[in-house]
This record gives sequence, structure tokens and C-alpha cells, in this order.
Amino acid sequence: MSAAAIERVHEVPALRARIAAWRAGGLRVGFVPTMGNLHAGHLALVDLARRHADRVVASVFVNPTQFGPGEDYARYPRTLDADATALAARGCDLLYAPTLEAMYPGGSAGTVEVRVPALDDVLCGASRPGHFRGVATVVAKLLNQVQPDVAVFGEKDWQQLLVVRALVRGLDLPVEIVPGPTVREPDGLAMSSRNQYLSPDERRRARAIHDALVRVAGAVRSGGDPLAAERAGASALESAGFTVDYVAVRSADDLGPPVRGRPRIVLIAARLGATRLIDNLLIDQ
Ligand code: PAF
Repeated sequence: MSAAAIERVHEVPALRARIAAWRAGGLRVGFVPTMGNLHAGHLALVDLARRHADRVVASVFVNPTQFGPGEDYARYPRTLDADATALAARGCDLLYAPTLEAMYPGGSAGTVEVRVPALDDVLCGASRPGHFRGVATVVAKLLNQVQPDVAVFGEKDWQQLLVVRALVRGLDLPVEIVPGPTVREPDGLAMSSRNQYLSPDERRRARAIHDALVRVAGAVRSGGDPLAAERAGASALESAGFTVDYVAVRSADDLGPPVRGRPRIVLIAARLGATRLIDNLLIDQ
């Protein structure tokens, strides 16, 4: 094994053996779950996990159960060798890339499902039915397989972060969930593996999402009506060529209606051509 290589495991027993050895040495384990095609946003999560743990495991698994019919499961970029190289360079200790069979023995229809009903049919859950059930199920399985002390999830997927926190509470999983700040391109576009689907022209227009977030957050922060701010944000996005799924001002901790005095957030999901992008910004920092 060269100095730059990272150990890879593909099955649960090999994963457990490696982690048991660390634990026997009294080491604290951090975990970064991903679907691969790693970019600077993911690698910042590895750095964050490292700050909370002695050893870091990253998983790469394109989870079929969180994609709906007609979504991009088949064409989702799979770049395992490049991911392994990037993880090794970042000092990640173990790459867990389970096979479909290791994750879903007997098929991805699965015999067990995990749901967080309070959060899974609003916003992205409304436009992607079943998505958060797939996320909650695979994250519960991954946390159970790795059994980390700490797991890191990006704030860009804010609703996912809340779903994960709720499932950890609901299932009494002994893991600390640490949120990772969104990493942005210089023009404000949140890093995402899906950005590479954008044509050069779409990429130029994609900054409108962050611009809209900043404007909506600013308007609400300075006392403006959240509904009016949402409408203005949506119309700015439409002018930039987006089909808007939602521009929503919500309570940050439960996605309920915004309440002054509690942390609020603005969330956007919008489509440019065939590419669906999401992003969010906390209003009350
Ligand atoms: O955020 C992601 O990449 C995925 O939803 C996750 C958490 C790895 C589950 O498949």
C-alpha cells in the first residue's frame, strides 16, 4: 500500500473489525456519510470529523432508496477511485464503500424502513415522496454499522440534518450529530455533486439561488413580511430561468411556520433545466 492510499472495506464484518481494533485502543471514531463524487464541501466535513475524533471513516454509497422514479440514480456520478485518493490526501483513515447487497441483503425494497413522519412530507419531502424515508433508513443502517461517536452532516441539506437528528433521538442512537457549514463557490453557489449537470450558461445563472437567499433573509431580518419576501425571491429566481419548487421561510429547528424570537431559516429548491438545486440560509445567526 502506498503512503497515499486509504484502506477500503466493502462489507460490514470488515468494517466492524477495523473499528473494533480502534475502540480496543481507546480511540474515538468520527463518521462522514456520503454518496461519493467528493468535492471541497465533503472534504471540509472530513476535517470537521477529524476535529472531533481520533479516527475518521467516510462512506460512499449511492443509496437507491432515496431516489424517486425518474430521478438521477442511474446517472449519479460514481468516482470511487478519485474519492479514495481525495480522502487519503485529507487524512481520512477508512473508506467504507458497501456493495448494494451488503447494504440491502435481499434487495433494495428492504424489509425495514425508518421514517420521521413529522419532517418527511414537507418541502423536499413533498416534491420527492419517499426521499427522506430512504435517507432515514440508510443513515440508520450506516450509523448502526459504523457505530461512530460522532457523525457529520452538511447544513446544505438542512431538512436531511433535521431528519437525522430526529431519528437519532427517536431511536436513542448513542452518536453526536455535528453540522458542517455549507461550502460555497466564489459566486455563492453551494457546492454540490449535481452542479456538474449544469451547462455553462446554467452555471452562470445558478448564483441567483444564493442571491435570492441573501435578499429574502435580509428582508425578513429587517422586519419584512415573510410571505412577501418568499414571493419576491421566487420571482427573482423565475427571472433567472429557474422553475421554483419552493422558497420558504421557516423555523430552523422544526420547519414549522417562522416565529420571531426563534431561529428562522430560508430554504430554496429550484430547477434549472433538468437539475434540481437546493440551498438555505439561517436568518438569525
Ligand atoms: O447527503 C448525502 O450524501 C446522503 O443523503 C447520505 C446522508 C449520505 C445518505 O445517503
